[in-house]
Formats: sequence, structure tokens, C-alpha cells
Amino acid sequence: MRQAGRYLPEYRALKEKHSFIEMVKTPELAVEVTLQPLKRFKLDAAIVFSDILVIPEAMGQPYHFREQGGIQMEFAIGSESCVEKLAEQGVPSRLSYVAAALNLLRSELGDSKGILGFCGSPWTLACYMIDGGSSDGFPKTLKMASEQPLVFGRLMEKITQALAGYLDLQAKAGIDALQIFDSWHSLCPIDKTYEWSLRWIDQLVQSLTTNTPIILYAKTTEDRLSFLSQSKVRGFSLDHTVELRKARQTFPSPFVLQGNLPPSLMESSPLLVEKETKNLLDSMDGDPGHILNLGHGIRPQGKIECVQAMVETTRAFGN
Ligand code: CP3
Repeated sequence: MRQAGRYLPEYRALKEKHSFIEMVKTPELAVEVTLQPLKRFKLDAAIVFSDILVIPEAMGQPYHFREQGGIQMEFAIGSESCVEKLAEQGVPSRLSYVAAALNLLRSELGDSKGILGFCGSPWTLACYMIDGGSSDGFPKTLKMASEQPLVFGRLMEKITQALAGYLDLQAKAGIDALQIFDSWHSLCPIDKTYEWSLRWIDQLVQSLTTNTPIILYAKTTEDRLSFLSQSKVRGFSLDHTVELRKARQTFPSPFVLQGNLPPSLMESSPLLVEKETKNLLDSMDGDPGHILNLGHGIRPQGKIECVQAMVETTRAFGN
């Protein structure tokens, strides 16, 4: 989950001088931001600083952040002609700055730490692209998916193709694992979960020519976990509404499970963080297929001493 960001003063300081997009697109700056949390905390892996929205941008739909928070795409994808105008070719070469950042990151870190690459899922990217930015419930996306299935399907094909090239680029740059964020997974009606989201993720998984492990973050409810287990993914990152130990029944070993302390815990106190982190680790009972993480991104009001307590408690566990 997000490691860098507004909860770190050194990130805020860099952002005084550079815009978010400039930091994402300049490999030296992207690497500097990526390394900020690793300099503070004893983490095992770094997630490259970038955003899921680099894909729409490389397809011809730029984005920026709204003053009041949230994402604004320059326009919304509302018709077949909009879908047709999106670039099909050349996406990986327009994202070569990510490969440059990953290569630089590897030369800085050596093999001492894992490097995670990532992307948005086709469904979650479609939500931002069709609704034209952050939205409450992404109504235009739901409408297009149900009322214009051919246009929606064509958009999903194009996004999936762009993502396949992007995953290949990241895999070749030597990442250790790849995380796919299906943050809006639960917006799919339950009987459309496969058709609207998982089917495209499966296509992506099958398109990979390397054996890079894939972890799917699906923000979803307990009753839907069995759908996920039928996909081709073998590692899942689950949000904090799901009881991870219970999820083990749906995803037995050798599935990998990542998660899932609530991000709000990072806004409490180190003592509470220590207690809750121990509780989660105890519940997983030393499970070697468990990767400790938050259930969603750390928020700007997250406290450094709480992140520190989470990392230290995890390091000390079982010793
Ligand atoms: O730790 C890292 O630096 C990893 C990089 C990372 C970012 N975004 C950087 C970022 C990752 C893995 C993401 C994923 C991402 N981006 C997702 C999937 C995960 C999730 O949160 O559900 C989504 C949906 C996005 C799109 C996006 N980017 C949103 C909704 C926002 C927040 C907008 C807001 O105003 O709050 C962003 C901005 C963003 N991406 C920030 C960071 C560090 C915050 C930028 C800032 O305010 O300086």
C-alpha cells in the first residue's frame, strides 16, 4: 500500500518545489520519494513512486489533482468516438520514465530490498476514465457498463492492452512482485464481478511472459472473496473490513495474503498500534504466506511514530 505521501514532512518539502506529475515523471525525483520511507523505517520492500493514472495519461487522457482533493481527468470518456481516440500503440514507450525509475531504484537498493511495481486494474481505471475523475459511486461508469456493453468492452480491451505492455515493461525492469489495485472492485454488482473486472485481470495475468508474482488488491467485502479465489491470481491484498484469518479458509496456502491493519490506526497512538499489530500477527500465527500491510493507503494525517511502532512490532514478532 502507499508508503510515501503527505504524512511525511520530507515528501511535503519536495512537493513545495515540484508538482506531483513532475515527481512521477522525473526518475531521480521518483526514486528520491520512493526511498523516503525506507530511510525512516526498516521495511523489506519499496513500492515505486508513481500513480495508477499514468495509464490513461499515456493513452491520451491527462489528469490533475483537484484543489479540494481528488482526481480530475481532462475530459470524460462518454462515447464510442472517445474510446476510439485513445491511443492503442506506443503506451510502454510513453511510460519509459517508469522503467528508468525502476532501474535507478535497483541500482540504489541492490538486491537487499524487494521492489514492487504496480498498476490499476482495468475496471478501476475505467471508473476514473468514464466518470472523468474521483466520484461518489462512479455512476457514469456503472451506466456505460450496463447500457453500452460494446463500447465498455472496447474500452476495457484497450485499457487491458495498454496495461499488458506496461506490466511487461515493469517486469523486464526487474521488479520482484507486481500489485494490481482494484480499489473500486466492490462497485461491480455481484453478478458482474467477473465480466466487468476479474476477466480483464485474468487476461493481464495470462499476458505476462515472466513469472513475476502478482498480488491483487481488491477492496471488497467478505461475501465476495470466493469470486476472487476463482481468478488466476495467487496473492491477495485485502482491506481492513475483512478478517484475514477467516479469509485463509477461502485462500488456503499457497495463496499469499497481504494486509490488513486499518489506515486509521496510523492516526492513533504507538501503544494502540503495537497492540493491534500483535493481535493481527497472533491471529495469523506465523503464517509464512502473510505479508503485513495496511488495508488501504496511509492518509495525510497518519503519524510517523505510529508507522514506526507498526514496523518495530512486526520486526520483533516471533523473536
Ligand atoms: O507509496 C507510494 O508512493 C506508492 C505510489 C502510489 C501512489 N498512488 C502515489 C500517490 C500508489 C501505489 C498509488 C495507487 C493509487 N492511485 C490508487 C490505488 C490504491 C488506492 O488508493 O485505492 C488510486 C485509486 C490512485 C489514484 C489517486 N492518486 C488518488 C485517488 C489520489 C488521492 C487524491 C487526493 O487528493 O487525495 C492520488 C494521489 C496520490 N498518489 C498521492 C500519492 C503519494 C498523494 C499525492 C499528494 O497529495 O501529494
